Amino acid sequence: MSGVVLVTGVAGYIGTLLREGLPARGHTVRGLDVVPVQGHLVADATDLAAVTAAAEGTDALVHMAGIATEASWAAISHANIEGTYVALEAARRAGVRRVVLASSNHATGMSPRVSSAQTDAQPRPDTYYGVSKVTMEALGSLYADRYGLDVVCLRIGSALPAPVTPRHLSTWLSPADTVGLVHAALTAPSPGFAVVWGVSGNTRGWWDLTSARALGYAPVDDAETHAAAVIAAHGEPVPGTVEHDRVGGEYAGPDFAVDAVAARAQA
Ligand SMILES: NC(=O)c1ccc[n+]([C@@H]2O[C@H](COP(=O)([O-])OP(=O)(O)OC[C@H]3O[C@@H](n4cnc5c(N)ncnc54)[C@H](O)[C@@H]3O)[C@@H](O)[C@H]2O)c1
Repeated sequence: MSGVVLVTGVAGYIGTLLREGLPARGHTVRGLDVVPVQGHLVADATDLAAVTAAAEGTDALVHMAGIATEASWAAISHANIEGTYVALEAARRAGVRRVVLASSNHATGMSPRVSSAQTDAQPRPDTYYGVSKVTMEALGSLYADRYGLDVVCLRIGSALPAPVTPRHLSTWLSPADTVGLVHAALTAPSPGFAVVWGVSGNTRGWWDLTSARALGYAPVDDAETHAAAVIAAHGEPVPGTVEHDRVGGEYAGPDFAVDAVAARAQA
């Protein structure tokens, strides 16, 4: 399916990749954010009336708006949980049949890291942020089952211009692959409800890309091309640390949540 796509969070890192990259894949992007972007809508993604109006006449909704790291429960539950409900409910009210949701590895971040992990493992969030992504996937499942929407949840690893830490050598989602993955989620015929890992074709990858490839995703990048520089700067991950042992890396550490909330409060 190509056509008009409403992208929430269009001013953000991934939103910017999508508004620049999706048109070349045949999509017309209508964006929405609280931060102004020329040619796109300024609106709050938790405002059901505003998002429903923005979704009218579109063919799909890609929901990227939200807080992209740990924060207080009040902030996360409003921006991320209410925001996901609004995205799905606005799509339903506007007759939009496909929704792509930005989930995260932190939905299962406390899980021990294993190779070729599947997306159907028990949820084990590592933060309030991770809880919001478990809830996102649950809301997506409800709207697929109850209303017949196609809902594709992208369980994104580390979407960055380039890998920075040794963990990123396993979790990186490159800019080109970010656009390719969303394009696949928009164009796969009748995906129903799907949860897929969002990472590049990393040599050191931990997560099984079979379900993403089934949508048509064909990663073009591999973090290994950056491995020598990253390892030279940081060394290899150390067994016994959360960075090495847990899906969520530092988010799974005992002090991460408190530190992250405090840092955001001071920002
Ligand atoms: N970048 C990653 O590595 C990564 C990994 C996993 C999941 N994700 C998810 O992908 C999505 C996009 O991530 P990103 O890296 O582009 O984050 P980002 O912070 O760069 O962008 C988020 C955008 O959402 C907007 N926003 C926040 N609250 C809003 C609201 N109430 N109404 C309208 N706009 C609002 C912000 O202004 C911002 O432009 C997020 O949901 C994030 O949790 C990102």
